[in-house]
Amino acid sequence: MKFPKRGVNELSILSELRSKYCLDAKHDLGEVLGSMTTKPLDVAIRAFEIFWRSNLNDPYTFPGSSIIEREVIEALADLYECNDCSGLITTGGSESNLTALYIIRELGFSTVGVPKSAHFSVFKACKLLKLNIYELDLDKDFRVSIGSVKEALDKGVRAFIFTAGTTELGLIDPIDKLGRVINEYSGLIHVDAAYAGFVIPFLKELGLKVPKVSFSNPAVRSLCVDGHKMGLTPIPNSALILRPPELIKYVEFPARYMPLNIQRGLLGTRTAGSAAALYAVIKYLGIEGFTEVVKYVMGLLKYLIKRLREEDFSVPVEPDVPIVCIEVKDPDKYLKELAKRRLFVYKCSLIKGVRVVIMPHLSRYDLDRFIEALKNVRREIG
Ligand SMILES: Cc1ncc(COP(=O)(O)O)c(C=O)c1O
Repeated sequence: MKFPKRGVNELSILSELRSKYCLDAKHDLGEVLGSMTTKPLDVAIRAFEIFWRSNLNDPYTFPGSSIIEREVIEALADLYECNDCSGLITTGGSESNLTALYIIRELGFSTVGVPKSAHFSVFKACKLLKLNIYELDLDKDFRVSIGSVKEALDKGVRAFIFTAGTTELGLIDPIDKLGRVINEYSGLIHVDAAYAGFVIPFLKELGLKVPKVSFSNPAVRSLCVDGHKMGLTPIPNSALILRPPELIKYVEFPARYMPLNIQRGLLGTRTAGSAAALYAVIKYLGIEGFTEVVKYVMGLLKYLIKRLREEDFSVPVEPDVPIVCIEVKDPDKYLKELAKRRLFVYKCSLIKGVRVVIMPHLSRYDLDRFIEALKNVRREIG
């Protein structure tokens, strides 16, 4: 559009915007099956609305926002068994990973061990920071290979990123086991739990066996978890937890005109609505509420895998968290055909397939509709 000379009335702007919004996939209609976004809780939206004008970048003018940020970080540190951590709220997993890698670089590391299954934001951050990547192989189960990590250690790599809930296959790298080895070499780990950070702690409440992901392992020095994924907050929302707390100093930059003379974080102005929304969800759900949410999505996961296999679809990986990769010959064609039916999935590349992330806005009805569509697409294109 051209920059308008004269303004028009609010009603016509909003109706124009609404007509464009119609193009977007809708969580409420079960159309969003690939994106890790979901419908935020009402309480999170309300909390966001109270604080969205406050700037988390300025604790002098907005001290209430700063208190909320600190309390959220404390609660997450508690969830992940850290009694001496600091941290900050960021805009998403990408910024959290970038910040963690920036700190790693400032600590003096020039090479980072990164599993092939890591999220692309990790590769992107290494490129931005000019960090060398030592690519770690996966084992036959698609988790990072312990042998490959040992080889990296032998070659002098000391900093590692592992994923707790891989984006494509929903797997948890054996972080605790690897942490023990890496600790012997005085190495460190950043855990990317952007997606599953609000799933994993509650799986054990359900009596499910999951690999341990926590700061109880001394090699774990940072961990990120996204509110705008399974934390049920509006976008943007992520938290980065740091140990020891002094690591935060690496992301404090001189800001001479600001009242406190420093500015914290890789970005500048950011809405305190993010901190408030995460605060609200944590208080509203607590461990019990989150466990119920996780029980619900894990139930749907079991249902989807069972139904897919009954219909002779190949689901080669048993995920730890609710992400399903369905093997198909031509994923791009499937995506296109499913999108025509307003079902929006993503791809998996480690196994050629289409990928569904089971988020809380989905229901059995939505999954049945998806399976029917998938069967029709298979009939049409094979
Ligand atoms: C494991 C993991 N890390 C990081 C990210 C990036 O998160 P965002 O898109 O919020 O920046 C994602 C997104 O899918 C992810 O799955």
